[in-house]
Amino acid sequence: MDKFVIEGGTPLVGEIPTSGSKNAALPALAACLLTEKPVILHRVPRVRDIRTMERLLTFIGARVEKDNGGCTAVTAGVLENPEAPYDLVKTMRASSLVMGPLVARTGRARVSMPGGCAIGARPINLHVQALEKLGARLTQTHGYLEAEAPDGLQGATIRFDRVTVTGTEDVMMAAVLARGETVIENAAREPEVSDLAELLVKMGARIQGAGTSTITIEGVQSLGGAEHTIIPDRIEAGTFLIAGAITGGRVKVTGCIKEHLDALLDKLTAAGAVITHPAEGILEVDGRGTIRSQDVTTTEYPGFATDLQAQYLALMTQADGISFVTETIFENRFMHVPELGRMGANIRIEGRQAIVAGARELTGTTVMASDLRASASLVLAGLVASGETVIDRVYHIDRGYERIEEKLSRVGARIRRVE
Ligand code: EPZ
Repeated sequence: MDKFVIEGGTPLVGEIPTSGSKNAALPALAACLLTEKPVILHRVPRVRDIRTMERLLTFIGARVEKDNGGCTAVTAGVLENPEAPYDLVKTMRASSLVMGPLVARTGRARVSMPGGCAIGARPINLHVQALEKLGARLTQTHGYLEAEAPDGLQGATIRFDRVTVTGTEDVMMAAVLARGETVIENAAREPEVSDLAELLVKMGARIQGAGTSTITIEGVQSLGGAEHTIIPDRIEAGTFLIAGAITGGRVKVTGCIKEHLDALLDKLTAAGAVITHPAEGILEVDGRGTIRSQDVTTTEYPGFATDLQAQYLALMTQADGISFVTETIFENRFMHVPELGRMGANIRIEGRQAIVAGARELTGTTVMASDLRASASLVLAGLVASGETVIDRVYHIDRGYERIEEKLSRVGARIRRVE
């Protein structure tokens, strides 16, 4: 298993480009199942989760062609195998995103129940309830969810008990081919939901309100092909901005969308980092001043992203004073805390809250990556820790960050991958 070896203490200076969003590319790839025509996606990040989704589409029967850049073309002609098998789903639970498109296109789907993961139980009950409201019959047997809609799907009003990003995406992809109108209330407002809607509309779907809490979809008979560029990855961009702040450097992140990061930018500014927006798509952080402690609570978009909580918490170990980091989305998203503690951080967890006593000098040691964003948090801590930090199991990081060690090295980080 690959490891990262990091020599901390170097302020990062320079420019880092943003890759396409993993969490926008995953539903976009699933949406290709809705038509037999070719769909061409640009700026698809070359990360493990995307490779898993592409393998899943191939398994189902679609043809997937990729260039060595970020272009992926999918042609889902005849889908012999509308199924997501356990060995693929267990490595990437977002495989459940194929359920809605498969039921809508073929009238059936057999998807392995995604197990929980490090950050929580991750149930998909809301996806199931919503598809049932559209007329699908779902049964669970032998660890698989089997969905059937032999007479097609019927539009309905769906109100989610709680906001679910992939739940909203799954149902949107089912509703575009349902008969009549579907209204999704309490929908997720994440930019990745809006990007998926934009692709679906290019394919011929009729969708209003994506990006707001109420999305209205008028079903159509069939969808055509399209060409679409995936939005930049706001979580990757945010991670690099925090890297500039925690190392006391000056980092320019390019190819990102400022509006997607406003909640983080507000926090970094309040914490003493100087953020500038010199041009469209460019954000610059100057972390040379003193970092002050700033409380944060994760909430659904446009609030502070749960996917940036671990990275921000690492920054707060360097801030003067005490900060309270509250995680409201997932029940177990503090896996990075014990590992940061082994590096010298002083953090106490009380339920959903981590209390961080800052301005602690971190020292390098061997730490274990556990989930995607916790691992990114350990990289950030390694960049500022004195001495050498070795991070095991970096496959967690490779799930969602494209060549992170190369991007960081280019701005002065002393980080290398060891096979
Ligand atoms: C998406 O996961 C993202 N993944 C996650 O990013 C992100 O952390 C999360 O949204 C929240 O923003 C993708 O987009 C592929 P949810 P998702 O459904 O859709 C509960 C990363 O690091 N819930 O919005 O699975 C759930 O347990 C990943 O890139 C139910 O109870 O998250 C959670 O507590 C990690 N029943 C809350 O809702 C359901 O049927 C929000 O989950 C569905 C969700």
